[in-house]
Amino acid sequence: MSLSCSELTKVYEGGKTGWPALRGISLDIKMGEFVAVTGPSGCGKSTLLNILGLLDEPTGGSYSLNGRDVFTLSDLERSDTRRDEIGFVFQSFHLLNRLSSLDNVALPLLYAGADTAGMRERAHSLLLKVGLHGKEKKTPLELSGGERQRVAIARALANSPKIILADEPTGNLDSASSKEIMQMLASLNEDGITVIMVTHDKELAARAGRNIRMRDGRVEQ
Ligand SMILES: Nc1ncnc2c1ncn2[C@@H]1O[C@H](COP(=O)(O)OP(=O)(O)O)[C@@H](O)[C@H]1O
Ligand SMILES: [Mg+2]
Repeated sequence: MSLSCSELTKVYEGGKTGWPALRGISLDIKMGEFVAVTGPSGCGKSTLLNILGLLDEPTGGSYSLNGRDVFTLSDLERSDTRRDEIGFVFQSFHLLNRLSSLDNVALPLLYAGADTAGMRERAHSLLLKVGLHGKEKKTPLELSGGERQRVAIARALANSPKIILADEPTGNLDSASSKEIMQMLASLNEDGITVIMVTHDKELAARAGRNIRMRDGRVEQ
């Protein structure tokens, strides 16, 4: 069980030649690892994470997830794999502001075809797990940044993913909330979930099991 990519490239369209965001990334990440990805703004961290999370496709190279070459999957298989195996956490939370925290967490369960009662019960227990008991009815705008990110983590956990991909999850948070979110990711990792986290914060990166430094679309070390 692992994520393994070789010579991944990504060229965004634009201009005469396009923009090479990834210039040949080769990585092996074993299931159960906690990896921090660091590097200057614009070096390709989000692009890499989106490709690893099957949100985007590379221009070249290969990628296998748990031994399966993901580029041979059909669109449906790709979206099923994304839904069932991967949870995403973003810097700006990506919650739906018109829905309660409970409904935000329940949404991926709805897409996975759960029944209403089971869905609410599961969303409830996930909110409890991230310390938001009693905040089920609040909408994101009624919550603090740290609380919003907890809702986003609960949502990411909805379909019991094996992998959590977090793109600067503490980028919009104060340092106390950042530590809490980091602690939460660390404890999910202890439960066996593979965590890959992009961060600018050297202190947080140092707490991951492994650091991958990127520069100009390549892995530096
Ligand atoms: N959708 C896009 N279209 C064109 N260029 C993009 C797009 N997304 C990112 N880029 C460019 O690709 C490079 C890498 O971006 P990104 O992966 O977001 O970097 P990081 O997350 O490390 O800040 C940047 O130069 C960025 O401007
Ligand atoms: Mg980014």
